[in-house]
Amino acid sequence: MTGRDSGAPGAGRFAAPKGVLEYVPPESIAFEHVMRTLIAAADRAGYALIELPVFEDTQLFARGVGESTDVVTKEMYTFTDRGDRSVTLRPEGTAGVVRAVIEHGLDKAGLPVKVRYAGPLFRYERPQAGRYRQFYTVGAEAIGVDDPALDAEVIAMADEGFRALGLRDYTLEINSLGDAECRPAYRELLQDFLRKLPLDEATQERVAVNPLRVLDDKRPEVRRMVADAPLLIDHLSTAAKEHHTAVKQHLDDLGIRYVENPRLVRGLDYYTKTTFEFVHPGLGAQSAIGGGGHYDGLMSLLGGADLAGIGYGIGVDRVLLACRAEGVEPWSTARVEVFGVPLGDGARRKLVQLAAALRKAGVRVDMAYGGRSMKAGMKAADRSGARYALVLGDRDLDAGTVGLKDLSSGDQDTVALDSVVDEIVNRLA
Ligand code: HAM
Repeated sequence: MTGRDSGAPGAGRFAAPKGVLEYVPPESIAFEHVMRTLIAAADRAGYALIELPVFEDTQLFARGVGESTDVVTKEMYTFTDRGDRSVTLRPEGTAGVVRAVIEHGLDKAGLPVKVRYAGPLFRYERPQAGRYRQFYTVGAEAIGVDDPALDAEVIAMADEGFRALGLRDYTLEINSLGDAECRPAYRELLQDFLRKLPLDEATQERVAVNPLRVLDDKRPEVRRMVADAPLLIDHLSTAAKEHHTAVKQHLDDLGIRYVENPRLVRGLDYYTKTTFEFVHPGLGAQSAIGGGGHYDGLMSLLGGADLAGIGYGIGVDRVLLACRAEGVEPWSTARVEVFGVPLGDGARRKLVQLAAALRKAGVRVDMAYGGRSMKAGMKAADRSGARYALVLGDRDLDAGTVGLKDLSSGDQDTVALDSVVDEIVNRLA
């Protein structure tokens, strides 16, 4: 993993942009395993791939994510393209998904629309451990059916992905942000409370545009002041309350533990009803490894039908950090299972064919190239993480045999060339 500052590269050399992580081997193997495991959990629940552009019309995010959010006001990578359009590198995935659902009429063909996606997001944030300017998420969205069981499914999918990786120490926090019936009255109640506090000017402005976010302020002095603020969870409409109770019931049925956090607000404006976050204690300040919630108004806000939605975004980079913090390593860093070491030109020619035959049989194979010595070849075999080395000299070739060396025990057998593919397939089975 490298995250170098592009401060002072050597003459003529370049470095990756500031605040950006790169995954190079072998760390990239761990990264890919985490990503695939999280995707697989959504796949098992019938969420189909949706592959969308990494840049969109700036207005999509301004409107979809919310003009008053930090994401829109401070963190977007926005630029004018050569056609004079304002475009923005996607800072999150949900707005783009909703745009695509509307544009392609996916909601006309059976509900809910269930889609998953994985890829980079971009936010111009202050880089620190677990917070990057390009980061990776796996996301899933279920659009068009308002059912607490679907909220539970989405939460369970995230939970299952974490468990499949072997993570145990995280906590699921849940809250309800209410619905169109109770939110406006609560907002006024909260504003009345906050306006009486000696808050600084910037926070007062926030009270006017997005008072809920003030409850989420991390500064101790603000936290003290808002300790007695009215909480939305105590002012839910009957429908929102029933929804919330039903979601919790489903989570109980599934044996998924959660804590209720009535101050959980989240940084994007579209949330209604269920909101949740998975937090991990091993990550320092950037402890959210995933989060999401319900967004009842987003489809209609972006010009579509008035349909509910629920989804999550999981931070792949942070989940990998969580695996490191818990000391779980469910991936193998082996690039291949078999590594060929040819000694001589005839042997090389034969090993190229054997490697192709093994790959056809589903075995992962690499070999030493460049006519190197036996010693260099065996070193490369060890480095590849392979279980077996196939050692072939021109004399073996004449005898119709090959050396099959178990790289962990050091045992070497002589195997007939025409049965070595079957022998390896059997041993690996
Ligand atoms: P979000 O909580 O803003 O939600 O981002 C999702 C996850 O991405 C976070 O929980 C965190 O793990 C990770 N993350 C966020 N910012 C960074 C960063 N700068 N560096 C590293 N990781 C980061 C959303 O984006 C919503 N679209 C999720 C959603 C889907 N809600 C409903 N559907």
